[in-house]
Amino acid sequence: MRDASPQTIYLKDYAPFGFAVQDVHLTFDLAPSATRVTARIRFVPDRAAADRTFYLHGENLSLISAKIDGESVKPTLTDEGLTYDVPDMPFTWEAEVQIDPAGNTALEGLYLSNGMYCTQCEAEGFRKITYYPDRPDVMSTFTVRINGPHGTLLSNGNPVAAGDGWAEWHDPWPKPAYLFALVAGELIAHRDTFTTMEGRKVDLALYVRPGDEGKCAFGMQALKDSMVWDEKVYGRPYDLDVFNIVAVDDFNMGAMENKGLNIFNASAVLASPETSTDGNFERIEAIIAHEYFHNWTGNRITCRDWFQLCLKEGLTVFRDSQFTADMRSAPVKRISDVIDLRARQFPEDQGPLAHPVRPESFQEINNFYTATIYEKGAEVIAMLKTLVGDDAYAKALDLYFDRHDGQACTIEDWLKVFEDATGRDLSQFQRWYAQAGTPHVAVSEAFADGTYTLEFTQSTPPSATTPDPAPLVIPIAVGLIAPDGSEAMPTQILELTQASQTFTFPGLNAKPVPSILRGFSAPVVLDHDADHAFLLAHDTDPFNRWEAARSLARTSLMNTILKGTTPDAAWINGIANVMRDDTLDPAYRALMFGLPGQSELAAEIQRAGHIPDPDAIWVAVNTLKQALSDKISDDLGAMYAAHQVTAPYAPDAAQSGMRAFGNAILSLITRQDGGDQAQAQYDAADNMTQQLSALANLIRAGRGDAALSQFEAQWKDDRLVMDKWFGLQVMEAKPDDAADTAKALTKHAGFNWKNPNRFRATLGALAAHHAGFHAKDGSGYALLADWLITLDPVNPQTTARMCSAFQTWRRYDAIRQSMISKELDRIASTPDLSRDTTEMITRIREA
Ligand code: PHE
Ligand code: ZN
Repeated sequence: MRDASPQTIYLKDYAPFGFAVQDVHLTFDLAPSATRVTARIRFVPDRAAADRTFYLHGENLSLISAKIDGESVKPTLTDEGLTYDVPDMPFTWEAEVQIDPAGNTALEGLYLSNGMYCTQCEAEGFRKITYYPDRPDVMSTFTVRINGPHGTLLSNGNPVAAGDGWAEWHDPWPKPAYLFALVAGELIAHRDTFTTMEGRKVDLALYVRPGDEGKCAFGMQALKDSMVWDEKVYGRPYDLDVFNIVAVDDFNMGAMENKGLNIFNASAVLASPETSTDGNFERIEAIIAHEYFHNWTGNRITCRDWFQLCLKEGLTVFRDSQFTADMRSAPVKRISDVIDLRARQFPEDQGPLAHPVRPESFQEINNFYTATIYEKGAEVIAMLKTLVGDDAYAKALDLYFDRHDGQACTIEDWLKVFEDATGRDLSQFQRWYAQAGTPHVAVSEAFADGTYTLEFTQSTPPSATTPDPAPLVIPIAVGLIAPDGSEAMPTQILELTQASQTFTFPGLNAKPVPSILRGFSAPVVLDHDADHAFLLAHDTDPFNRWEAARSLARTSLMNTILKGTTPDAAWINGIANVMRDDTLDPAYRALMFGLPGQSELAAEIQRAGHIPDPDAIWVAVNTLKQALSDKISDDLGAMYAAHQVTAPYAPDAAQSGMRAFGNAILSLITRQDGGDQAQAQYDAADNMTQQLSALANLIRAGRGDAALSQFEAQWKDDRLVMDKWFGLQVMEAKPDDAADTAKALTKHAGFNWKNPNRFRATLGALAAHHAGFHAKDGSGYALLADWLITLDPVNPQTTARMCSAFQTWRRYDAIRQSMISKELDRIASTPDLSRDTTEMITRIREA
């Protein structure tokens, strides 16, 4: 078992391992509860290393035998590894261990998922497979022999040989152990090929369980698109003879970039029009790209230690968002990313879990696969690109690949490449990696004698890890609009480097309206009372036009919540105009119509010095939607009809935009007709996007029971679709019913709580239902805590991640705080609580 006593690891304590690993040979004799793993590893002492202690990580392993150069040895076993007094010269280490894949419910190391063997080694799972220096800066080639069941036997690299019940693989690219992978089971391959820009023919395969063959085509196409894109945009070809992807049902995360053998949560790769929504298709395309792009940013160049996680994750998220922007609509992608950033990263950065993009300490690295490392990490790279420009960015990336291919690197290496390629001093920019917290940028303006002046003031609220934040380099994209709506100045990048700084724009005829932070050029909170109605009508920057609509909606909602005013006509009229404007992309119009998240509003209310009331927020949001629906009720039928796709279903940007907008209109229609149109759409739907959206409307209208039963009968054998059925009922429940609905679903025969997807679909949906989770009687808190306590001994990683539902607890009133506090105490005092969950609860508690 894991040692739950908290032990903090510090970046400043980094020391290299005292040995190089020359090569690794592994033999697996697979058996569900007694798999034998034999490792033969050649170690060479590193004379340059200060410390040559021979320490190998190992957890949950039964050591059968250990040898050095053929002689049996008795190493000293500790809770988390072993040590031995090894010779001061090259030697071969051999160890045989026994492990229990069937008993491995944590889904880390080698485990069984529905009878299929699979592995997950990032970050520190390889140590549950054999004794090894399980750290990313130890890289080696691997040769793997699998003796196993009949069926498919896969590992990293290229296939070497295979026979009845065995297969051998060799990965020629030195890699850290976290990229090791093995899969064995009855699988069906969906095959294709790809020829690289270098003329290398690559065999591609997507392996799935029997029955899922029909859900492979889209993922395969996404893979080929990703391969082409990385060649074209980054000049990076693929480097093995095969590229394999496997879909597994039980997986803690989205997917994993193991060298040559990506392993995917089935939900992140399997798709068909009947079973997947447009949103699912887009997410799958992005995740396939993300994992594929890791082959260069992560695998060929990896992280020196886990503090550098953003080196691979921030960069790879940035690359996958560029890919999606190219494949689909760039403004729509940017807006979606910012919605996500504000919904997930901002609360993290503004609460007790705040940490820098490159943290300086952790207890459990699994707790640091966060929105800050991933999404803010990507924002930091976007800012860097904005500051140096596209050409310099390309030059720096070429230098990065040239200089560091095959190495385990740090953020210092990354920034040095940019300094060398551009001559720019990035020492102040480096603070983006070192400081936690969301910066605020306040704006004041003046106009005199044809000169317009903007003054910016930045400040970052202090946090536990960054008590004393210093000014950052903030690229602020600004454009000026003339009073007649024409552009007075196209976009310029202002570099804010001081706490407070002034920029002047001479030669103007009249005071312009500024459009600030175009494209969301920095991950900050902008405090500026702009003329949002004017910008909604005239801004030439699509992001800021959307932002103007958001700001109007936010102001209206805040006024309703705090002052009891009725919905603001400025938003309703502005949006009504946008919705009728057929020159605008329907996908964009669908986003325009969206309202700020309820949790985001709660944060805003807190910032304004009030205590948020989740019920009042819920009511205000519904009142505003109703007001829009009432205002344009006469147009809704025609708008809906004009946005129905008649061509055969395709998950492309154009069709999904039409459906997104059509379904946004459907939600307004439901407010008028009580669900008649939704029922018609439900009955006619031939794809999941239309079916699910109609179902959501029926539930919201209080007439979902028949459709829910029909849906269950239709889809009971499809795990991924049933996840939607579980989730939707909770998401669409009235606040007072959300916890009861979730509770009832946990008693459903299909509630397999050990499956992370099903657990998240049900309890994660409750945590995401702002007013439902924060129901006055505390039922939401209690139910989540019960289930976190139940899941923790089975799957610490998924439990710990979901603890973040409580991270905003200090925002709420004293009664809610004391209820949450009690639940946090109850979780914390559970005997044998995992290290993962202990760390999360402690950090949240110490707020
Ligand atoms: N490295 C994976 C990714 O971002 C995420 C992951 C982390 C998956 C840890 C599993 C475990 O693509
Ligand atoms: Zn990643």
